[in-house]
Amino acid sequence: MNEIISKINSSKNLEELDKIRVSLFGKKGLITQEFSKLKDMPNDEKKEFANNLNRKKDELNSAISIKKNELELIDLQNKMKAESIDVTLFNEERSIGALHPVMITMDKIIEYFLSQNFSIENGPLIEDDFHNFEALNLPKYHPARDMQDTFYTDDKRLLRTHTSPVQIRTMEASKPPIRMICPGAVFRRDFDLTHTPMFHQIEGLVVEEGDKVSFANLKYTLENFLKYMFGDVKVRFRPSFFPFTEPSTEVDISCIFCKGSGCRVCSHTGWLEVLGSGVVDPNVFRQVGYKNVSGYAFGLGVERFAMLLHCIGDLRSLFEGDLRLLEQFK
Ligand code: PHE
Repeated sequence: MNEIISKINSSKNLEELDKIRVSLFGKKGLITQEFSKLKDMPNDEKKEFANNLNRKKDELNSAISIKKNELELIDLQNKMKAESIDVTLFNEERSIGALHPVMITMDKIIEYFLSQNFSIENGPLIEDDFHNFEALNLPKYHPARDMQDTFYTDDKRLLRTHTSPVQIRTMEASKPPIRMICPGAVFRRDFDLTHTPMFHQIEGLVVEEGDKVSFANLKYTLENFLKYMFGDVKVRFRPSFFPFTEPSTEVDISCIFCKGSGCRVCSHTGWLEVLGSGVVDPNVFRQVGYKNVSGYAFGLGVERFAMLLHCIGDLRSLFEGDLRLLEQFK
């Protein structure tokens, strides 16, 4: 009996303990077999034998159940130890964010113009009529001032529709020579595959005293810039119109997808329009009190550049914050 009890007490796990239990109380178990002796026993011996056996049975059962509790507790503790987490642990696998493709593109453009000695200027997002339109030679009746294009906050103020007002603000605040770019958000009442109500532009303005700056300087600067951005492309200057430049040109590059042979992206023209530019109109200089100066200006859409550089088909996807797109820029 003592031997069995000590075997129970020294069992190392629940399995071992259960084996002992079966060896005692199972169909062929020791105690079961003892009980089966009862039926062949003379009546006067039966009672004492049964009492004795029941006592042993109770004793063994309680030893088993005490050991069982003990082993279960150890099991639980081991399990908790194994599954515990240290919330203060440094997670090596934490993910790092990435710059948005529009910001990557903007940085690349800014970097180029900084290398060409341009300064960076800024202006307010909420503008007045004078800086956004009037001073840029956009008279009151000009269609670009239509309510359809412009967000007005009240009679006098609006969300700037382009970065060109920063040309005016920079000229008001300083004297030539000026050599600046202005990156920033602009706003228009527009929303479709190629337009969002907010997007980013980079403005450029170069002004010198006298007649030193000509269309040739504009052409040289933009050609080099576009080759820096897009590699070995052809650059084409197409006559156009902006109220604040004269002459005005829109600038195209040969399609970077089909190399100019014509595809869906370039609408089978072989060319992609990438920016607007021109020689600063004398009316603009007059508005800021500049005399006897010459200059050129340009403006580009950063999202358009980002889409071309990274083959992004839908402008709106740049504003959706979808990680499947953004994680590709890590
Ligand atoms: N402001 C013009 C636009 O938003 C772009 C531009 C800037 C054109 C400077 C010429 C010179 O379309």
